Amino acid sequence: MGSELTYRGHESQPVTDSYSPKPIKPWFLVTRPIRYLLREQRLVFVLVGIAIASLFFTAIPSSSHAPYDPSQMSGTDTFSYVPAVSHVGSSGFGSVRSGGKVPLGLKRKGLRIVVTGGAGFVGSHLVDRLIARGDSVIVVDNFFTGRKENVMHHFGNPNFELIRHDVVEPLLLEVDQIYHLACPASPVHYKFNPVKTIKTNVVGTLNMLGLAKRVGARFLLTSTSEVYGDPLQHPQKETYWGNVNPIGVRSCYDEGKRTAETLTMDYHRGAEVEVRIARIFNTYGPRMCIDDGRVVSNFVAQALRKEPLTVYGDGKQTRSFQYVSDLVEGLMRLMEGEHVGPFNLGNPGEFTMLELAEVVQETIDPNAKIEFKSNTEDDPHKRKPDISKAKELLGWEPKVSLRKGLPLMVKDFRQRIFGDHKEGSASTTTTTTTSSTSS
Ligand SMILES: NC(=O)c1ccc[n+]([C@@H]2O[C@H](COP(=O)([O-])OP(=O)(O)OC[C@H]3O[C@@H](n4cnc5c(N)ncnc54)[C@H](O)[C@@H]3O)[C@@H](O)[C@H]2O)c1
Repeated sequence: MGSELTYRGHESQPVTDSYSPKPIKPWFLVTRPIRYLLREQRLVFVLVGIAIASLFFTAIPSSSHAPYDPSQMSGTDTFSYVPAVSHVGSSGFGSVRSGGKVPLGLKRKGLRIVVTGGAGFVGSHLVDRLIARGDSVIVVDNFFTGRKENVMHHFGNPNFELIRHDVVEPLLLEVDQIYHLACPASPVHYKFNPVKTIKTNVVGTLNMLGLAKRVGARFLLTSTSEVYGDPLQHPQKETYWGNVNPIGVRSCYDEGKRTAETLTMDYHRGAEVEVRIARIFNTYGPRMCIDDGRVVSNFVAQALRKEPLTVYGDGKQTRSFQYVSDLVEGLMRLMEGEHVGPFNLGNPGEFTMLELAEVVQETIDPNAKIEFKSNTEDDPHKRKPDISKAKELLGWEPKVSLRKGLPLMVKDFRQRIFGDHKEGSASTTTTTTTSSTSS
């Protein structure tokens, strides 16, 4: 008996109901994505999405910071990257540039600002104002004349960073604005190492302008009334080209700043860097170096120590004295404004050295004596700013008179000379060999 499970595959079965797909027409393939989009209002959703995205990106200008491109650097242009500089506290979506639109519902974020020379006299007051405004500040300073004490009240603030760095060496930071102050400002300090002074002014400024160009930051140079030299025009307007001795003992500073101005304008014209130039006239206030040979600090320190006030020459040379808060206000207005400058920033109130000595006597010690010494080389005879340009275009003019500002400085000097015994005794033994009426 044969098995029932007999293979019958060889018996042919008629196939009656087999499936045969229709051939796909080419137009069907082409229109398939379109038909997919048209179904269930998907197209409407896509269009709405595109509209929202474009609205969002036009409302927030993306950072115009150019990416770092090593091929664009010249030989001297090499840089050191500082990884310590984080983006903490910086503007969120790239950088919110001054004047950039802030989307509705978002609070204006602070700017990220570098202040070179920010541990010095003027720089530290500027840093205080910028931090108070809500910006993130990076101070770059080599502490040649600056002091950590001037900024240590910001230590621990996440919006504050301090980098010990010499601006003669290149540096890369991501910032929106650069206030470039790094440079010794008093004759005692800038004559101490004249070659270093001119290097700071030329190479240091070149490095900071290079940084501004690379990251698209706005750059402000703190130049000086010294660019007018011993002026033949009085008061000095910004259009005056000056009367400077190019080979004198002060040239490292005067000519250094003049070159810094030239570099600043060349980067502006040639590389479209946004720049600002301030020409600062004699400024005084708390945190000035005590024995820096500048006339106000000299007189105040001498009067406090019961020493005679040293007047150089006949004491009839004139200067104008600006309180530091007025200067800081002017610098910030200049940076935020639309005008390149140069702008004179100074107090037009003019005093002879003898008149200044009298105000110091009135403020500190009416019995303080005056001692005359021969004048220093190239000391200008007259200095008084014409500030009509700053008044008109920046809406700025100084507010603090000498009689109001001097007591504030005296309080700080008194504390530093007598409050801290160590510093007081060190300061009193320091003799100022060179002095000058200029900054
Ligand atoms: N105070 C004034 O009356 C006056 C007048 C005219 C111009 N200015 C200008 O304003 C700026 C600030 O002056 P200031 O009175 O605060 O002087 P300052 O000496 O107190 O400050 C200068 C700061 O720059 C730093 N510095 C110097 N060389 C440096 C370098 N190579 N690298 C990094 N940091 C360096 C110093 O350590 C200091 O902290 C200077 O550029 C100065 O030329 C000041």
